[in-house]
Amino acid sequence: MSTRDKLERLRELRLQTLEGGGPERLKRQHDKGKLGARERLDVLLDPGTFVELDRFVEHRSTDFGLDQQRIPGDGVVTGYGKVDGRTVYVFSQDFTVFGGSLSEAHAEKICKVVDLAVRNGSPVVGLNDSGGARIQEGVASLGGYAELFWRNTMASGVVPQISAILGPCAGGAVYSPAITDFVFMVQGISHMFVTGPNVVKTVTHEEVSFEDLGGARVHATTSGVAHFSRNTEIECLQAIRELLSYLPANNSEPPPFRETDDPHERADEMLVEVVPDVPTQPYDMHEVIGRIVDDGGFLEVHAGWAANLITGFARLGGRPVGVIANQPAVLAGVLDIDASRKGARFVRFCDAFNIPLVTFEDVPGFLPGVAQEHGGIIVHGAKLLFAYCEATVPKLTVITRKAYGGAYDVMSSKHIRGDLNLAWPTAEIAVMGPKGAVEILYRKEIADSDDPSARATELEEEFREKFAHPYLAARRGFLDDVIDPRETRFRLISGLEMLANKRDRNPPRKHGNIPL
Ligand code: HXC
Repeated sequence: MSTRDKLERLRELRLQTLEGGGPERLKRQHDKGKLGARERLDVLLDPGTFVELDRFVEHRSTDFGLDQQRIPGDGVVTGYGKVDGRTVYVFSQDFTVFGGSLSEAHAEKICKVVDLAVRNGSPVVGLNDSGGARIQEGVASLGGYAELFWRNTMASGVVPQISAILGPCAGGAVYSPAITDFVFMVQGISHMFVTGPNVVKTVTHEEVSFEDLGGARVHATTSGVAHFSRNTEIECLQAIRELLSYLPANNSEPPPFRETDDPHERADEMLVEVVPDVPTQPYDMHEVIGRIVDDGGFLEVHAGWAANLITGFARLGGRPVGVIANQPAVLAGVLDIDASRKGARFVRFCDAFNIPLVTFEDVPGFLPGVAQEHGGIIVHGAKLLFAYCEATVPKLTVITRKAYGGAYDVMSSKHIRGDLNLAWPTAEIAVMGPKGAVEILYRKEIADSDDPSARATELEEEFREKFAHPYLAARRGFLDDVIDPRETRFRLISGLEMLANKRDRNPPRKHGNIPL
């Protein structure tokens, strides 16, 4: 065979590898409102940058007639490409081939790109659309999953790992996405569960649909398994690109700087108005964040879950930051179990990837109640505290209003290595709010007075005058400054510059023991 003939044969073989499960199955995929595995990569990556690896890999099974069904690529497209000119490693499961199920060979392909990502220090993005372990392969397929779980674990904190669920993801298969840093889901097409509706019905007699058991809405609002939920696959893939724009390629790089036209000194007049005069009145902390960060750009993480704590990415003076903010508009901004878990995971991600933390604080405390106590608020609240304590990235805090009780300590206080702690003049910092404090300190005096209600109000006012302001903390140096709210943007940007070379380490140890 001449070289030209060999080239022609290569061209034909390569074309075959693009067919996947064939046009019929691809049509079925489209009819379900889903894109094909390669079409997804076209949306995710910069045009023309995808380079495929292992296109000729096939499974090695001979049982169940599988020796008659070998499809090049074996149900997953793997390789690397670029997002905004930066390298990312990718895999995209092809549901048209054996339902995207994971064989030993399929797993080896995915493991190869995860290994490459770790060795070369670039993120890995997995597009999951799979019926799970390839049933015909038995333990070889289970072993393939375990190989992947182990690699996901070793890659954690080394390179960012992002999972999109774009079809079924059931059984133990859910644990690879769960170990990765961010899970994206799409309304109507993504389903994640350990056991599906049929098994649930058999075991617990509950009748539940796929959507209600493990759809995007449930995981983005109730379980917190999904960090992002989008209406379409295109929106989902574009959101992954946006997320990557905030992240460094690996844990030894700084996050990517992006020049901004938004003036560093921009003073937003509305910040003076945003905190209401009445301390019990809510306001939307999104407004505060939006008016301070570059061009109002904010990519919210876990937007629909534990909304009493806001987490997300923004830029200040071109530098990416992780924002954590109490949300007075939801449950008065209290810390509860879900908010603590949400915040802890976000803080740890940012710390692992050199992303400075900016905390906006308005928190009346931890949520009281039997359900919270019995649900373990002690251990869950400790997660957030632990995460802030061990974080060595620059930590900047702005107290906008309440900083009460243990929540004052937790939310990046000076005492747990806050680097720059600022407060607005509206800040109130105390062991508890005036009402609670007066009830405890003056119970007898109030009861004995001629007009208990009027006396209580009087004492609350006295307490407020004495404690509900930032100056006691500022006098002790627990706050570095009390600032005009309009200066916040400038002070945070200059703080980030001041902390740009921060070097801090925790004591040598195998690992800490975060209260999981
Ligand atoms: C082999 C599979 C498969 C699997 C689907 N297929 N899942 N082949 N192993 N796990 C094949 C089907 O036989 C079919 O082949 C094609 O993929 C498309 O599947 P359909 O059933 O026609 O598609 P649909 O109706 O959309 O249903 C999708 C589905 C269903 C809900 C995912 O296929 C399903 O329930 N599959 C089994 C899911 C499951 O229980 N997996 C094991 C989970 S436990 P043809 O040739 O007809 O097109 C697990 C353990 C991991 O994964 C453990 C890690 C520790």
